[in-house]
Amino acid sequence: NITTKFTQGLPKAELHLHIEGTLEPALKLKLAQRNHVDIGQTTIAEVQKTYEYHDLASFLAVYYPAMNVLQTEEDFYDLAMAYLHRAAANNVRHAEIFFDPQAHTSRGIDFATVINGLYQATVDARALNIDAHLIMCFLRDFSKESARKTLAEALQYKDKIIGIGLDSDEHNNPPLKFARQFEDAAAAGLHLTTHCDIDQKDSIEHIRQALEIMGVERLDHGTNIVEDPDLVAFAAKNHIGLTSCPLSNTFVTPEMKGKEVIELLNKNVPVSIHSDDPAYFGGYISDNYYALAQQFNLTVEQIVQLARNSFATAWISPEQKQLYF
Ligand code: HPA
Ligand code: ZN
Repeated sequence: NITTKFTQGLPKAELHLHIEGTLEPALKLKLAQRNHVDIGQTTIAEVQKTYEYHDLASFLAVYYPAMNVLQTEEDFYDLAMAYLHRAAANNVRHAEIFFDPQAHTSRGIDFATVINGLYQATVDARALNIDAHLIMCFLRDFSKESARKTLAEALQYKDKIIGIGLDSDEHNNPPLKFARQFEDAAAAGLHLTTHCDIDQKDSIEHIRQALEIMGVERLDHGTNIVEDPDLVAFAAKNHIGLTSCPLSNTFVTPEMKGKEVIELLNKNVPVSIHSDDPAYFGGYISDNYYALAQQFNLTVEQIVQLARNSFATAWISPEQKQLYF
C-alpha cells in the first residue's frame, strides 16, 4: 500500500508550479499588512474563504487580484522561499518554476523587481538542496504585442530564465498566437513549453500546433492528447513530457485524469505529476502523487516511473539526470 511517507520521500522534479499559485492565505495576509494593501479580509480564515472556484475562469478571477499584495523584490523573494521550503520538505530536488511577469507589470510593478526577487530565491535554494530555475510564462489572453515587449525585457535577464511557457485563459487563445515569440525565445537558447489545459474547446488543435508547428518540449496538462493516437505516438517518439496536476484537475472537471495518466504511461509518453497552484488547489506535489495513487490504485512501479519521468523531461543535462535516478 502506498503511504504519504513514500510519496513524500520519493525524489522528484517539480516542472509545473506557478509561483503566484503558492501564495498561502497566511502569507497573503502578512504581505497585505506589510504593504498596506486593503484586500478586504483581516483573518486567515476569511482569506481562505475567498479561495473558491469551480472552473479555470472562476479560479483566475480569484488568482490574479490576489497578486496585488506582491509589491517589492522582497515580497517575490519571500513568496518563492516559502515555496522552496515546502518543496524541500517534499523532497523536490529540481524545480522549474513558472512566473507571470505581465500579471505584475500590468499593475505597475517593474519586471526587474519580479525577476530579481524570484531569482535570488533560486540561488538560495541551493542551501536547501534544490536546483531551482525560472520559466517565464506569457499570459495568453494578453496581446501579442504585450508578449513581444515582455520577451524583449526578459531577454535582458536571459541567464536568469531557463525557458518560456504560456498560461492563463486558453479559450480562443491558441499557442500559434505566440508563434513568433516562441521562435525568438528558442533562437535565444530558451526552452519551450505551453499549457494545453484539460478539456478546452480546441484542445487537440492546440496540442497539435504546440507539438508540430512550435516545437515545444513539454505540454503542461495536455492529457487530452489521448484522444488522438497520432499525437500520442508523436509525443512518445519525441520524448515530450506531459506535466499533469491531479488536484488542480478536480477543480476544473469532476476527476483527476488518472485514466489518461495510466494510458500515457502504458504508451511510453513521459508523463509526470506536479502541483500547479498548491495554495489554491489543496495540496503540494506529494499530495498530488498520493491522491492519484489512492484513487487509481497505482503500483509502486507506476509511481516511481512518474517521478523518473519528471527528471527525464527536466531541462537538465544527462549527467545531472544520473544524479537523481
Ligand atoms: N492554467 C492556466 N493558467 C494558469 C494555471 C493553469 O493551470 N495555473 C495558473 N495559471
Ligand atoms: Zn498551470
